[in-house]
Amino acid sequence: MEIAEIDNWVNQAISAFASAQNLEELKSARLAHAGDKSPISGASRSLGTLPADERAVLGKIIGDARGKINASLEARTSALEIERDSVLLVQERVDVTLPPHRSKLGGLHPITIIKNEISDFFIGQGYSIAEGPELEAQWLNFDALNIPADHPARTMQDTFFIEPLESGLVLRTHTSPVQVRTMLAQKPPIYVICPGRTFRADELDATHTPVFHQVEGLVVDRGITMAHLKGTLDSFARKMFGDEAKTRLRPSFFPFTEPSAEVDVFFNGRWIEWGGCGMVNPKVLQSCGVDTSIFTGFAFGMGLERTLMVRHGITDMHDIVEGDLRFSAQFGSGI
Ligand code: FA5
Ligand code: MG
Repeated sequence: MEIAEIDNWVNQAISAFASAQNLEELKSARLAHAGDKSPISGASRSLGTLPADERAVLGKIIGDARGKINASLEARTSALEIERDSVLLVQERVDVTLPPHRSKLGGLHPITIIKNEISDFFIGQGYSIAEGPELEAQWLNFDALNIPADHPARTMQDTFFIEPLESGLVLRTHTSPVQVRTMLAQKPPIYVICPGRTFRADELDATHTPVFHQVEGLVVDRGITMAHLKGTLDSFARKMFGDEAKTRLRPSFFPFTEPSAEVDVFFNGRWIEWGGCGMVNPKVLQSCGVDTSIFTGFAFGMGLERTLMVRHGITDMHDIVEGDLRFSAQFGSGI
């Protein structure tokens, strides 16, 4: 065994380690140049067969050679490990500036928002919330409200009748039947509102929808006059449209109020029709068992879609009914 040969193994090992580009390649180089089957290991093993004096000299030389090979291997190993770690750090980097994934919470439709706002306002004035079914008895939707059998509102054109027709049921065309239900169920003084869904056989267009919402108001008490109605409407209008808002009553006709009026609201410099109102017709009070020598009352009914459209300058009813989140989200529904 030549000493030059041993130097050669050392040099081959060092250059093989140096040219390994990653830890995988370094592993093969290690097996070839420092493993059990490497020439240097073979040389170590054969030392045992040599005479003692030669063994001492060659043992030292081989030991030194192994030391150089191992030192080179260690240096290259740690260099390649550092390289691997820094690549991993870049690959697995977390970008803390990325926006987090936000789950959409859902929110209330603008009609629900305005309905809640109206309810809160009237509850604050001492009113309570009355309710009635959407599928209503014709008698309550029409007859009890003094709407005669031949009234145009009672035709198929305007009203959704429920089959079989003998059931006497309709989809309520307004929230006014709740007036009757309330007066039949409780004695005056009565201060209620009823916000709810209503139905008419109207085509969906820019200002009408077959399914819409109204809020009914009913007050029955001693000495109630149109002045109370007007004052209530004015403060309701201010709540909905701001401090500048005011209302005006135009003579009109509803069979269940007498006198009756259309309510206009002054908003953004012009008068806009908002709903209907009047003093509850004594005939209606009497058929509900209210003593008209003691009590009088007023009632009003506004469209909620109309209120929303006026307040927010919405020009097309489609936006309210189509359920596009981009529309609803503008109302702070938390989406
Ligand atoms: C009534 O429904 C009466 N019950 C109101 C009333 C109540 C009068 C209490 C007196 C006392 P009218 O048919 O005008 O009235 O409807 C009232 C409001 O509902 C309208 O001003 C409008 O804002 C709304 N409305 C009616 N039809 C539709 C529809 N197809 N789409 C959207 N809103 C509608
Ligand atoms: Mg009207």
